[in-house]
This record gives sequence, structure tokens and C-alpha cells, in this order.
Amino acid sequence: MQPNKKHTAKTYDLSGLSGISDETLEMHFKLYEGYVKATNDLSERIGGILADGKVDQEEMRAYSELTRRLGFEYNGMVLHEYYFENMKRQGGGDPDRTSSFYKAAELSFGSYDIWKTDFMGIGKMRGVGWAVCYRNPETKALSNHWISLHETGNIAGFRPVLVMDVWEHAYLLDYKPADRPKYIEAFFSNIDWDVLNKRI
Ligand SMILES: [Fe+2]
Repeated sequence: MQPNKKHTAKTYDLSGLSGISDETLEMHFKLYEGYVKATNDLSERIGGILADGKVDQEEMRAYSELTRRLGFEYNGMVLHEYYFENMKRQGGGDPDRTSSFYKAAELSFGSYDIWKTDFMGIGKMRGVGWAVCYRNPETKALSNHWISLHETGNIAGFRPVLVMDVWEHAYLLDYKPADRPKYIEAFFSNIDWDVLNKRI
């Protein structure tokens, strides 16, 4: 961890999305700010333990617990930033067939439609977490993954290309819990494909 690094919550202008209400986004930004604050608080407390240059035996339990919690909060902060960044008003549609993302999806999955079926399928999985499309920087291949909570399932070294929050708080004001597929359709109608092409 980095005890001296203070994170500042970013702001996003996402009002007027299709199928994801401004109320949902306002509530979601507040939750995100909570992850930023918790990341800073945990880093500061861990920094306090490290300040004398050692972790005493009696500090070990607290140090371990704070460090484990940091993985949850830090990933929660970062994934929300990718998520908010990959949406925009009047986004969506299918990506341009000549775009970097479209070509990468075709190369990796055989077709864009298969990539989309896989990504959407992961988003519909039961449980609390995220659907993330990653790019392997070595092979350039895309692959889709289920992330439990925020921290379990992320592939070390892979770069997130498309990040979709499927915690219930992402859609509960707009859809019933059983209607997650409707939220996923709404999410797809707001994707900023330019951002994905830049990430690639
Ligand atoms: Fe969220």
C-alpha cells in the first residue's frame, strides 16, 4: 500500500443516461466516494503502523485485517472509476466494425456477438460483483471475467477494457432485483465505445 498517497474522488457528468436514472447515479457517486474515503483511511492507519519501521507482533492482527480490507475498498474505488468512465449520454449501439475494440473482440472470440453473449452472460450470474472485459497486454487478447465483490477474480497484469457493476445498488432504484437483464440492456445502451478503443 502507499501510506502517503491520498486519493480524491473524481466527478462524472452522466445525467440523462438511458435506463439508468439520475437518482441511481447520485446514490452511486456517494457510494463511490465512500470507497475513496475508506481507501484513504485504511492507508493512513496502515501507514501509522509502519511509521516506526516495523510491524510489532501485537500490531500484526490489526495490520493484517486493515490490509485485507484495503483490497476490497481499493478495488471498489478503481472499478467504479472504470465503470463511470465507460458510459456516456447517447452512447451505446454496436461498436464500429473498424474500431480497435470490435477487431479485438472478433480476434479473441470469433465474433463480436459471441463476445457480447459472454459478457452479458457473466453480468447475469447470480451473486454480488462485476463483469469485466480485460485485455492481456502480452497477447492483446480480450477475455471476460466475473469478479466477486470487488477483489476476487481480477487477473493480475490485465487491463480493464469494459467494466460493468452488477451489485444491486447499480439498478435497484430503476429495476426489480430479478430484472438485472433489463439493467444490463440499459448499460449497453450507454457504453462509450471511444473510451474502450482508447483503453485498447
Ligand atoms: Fe457500485
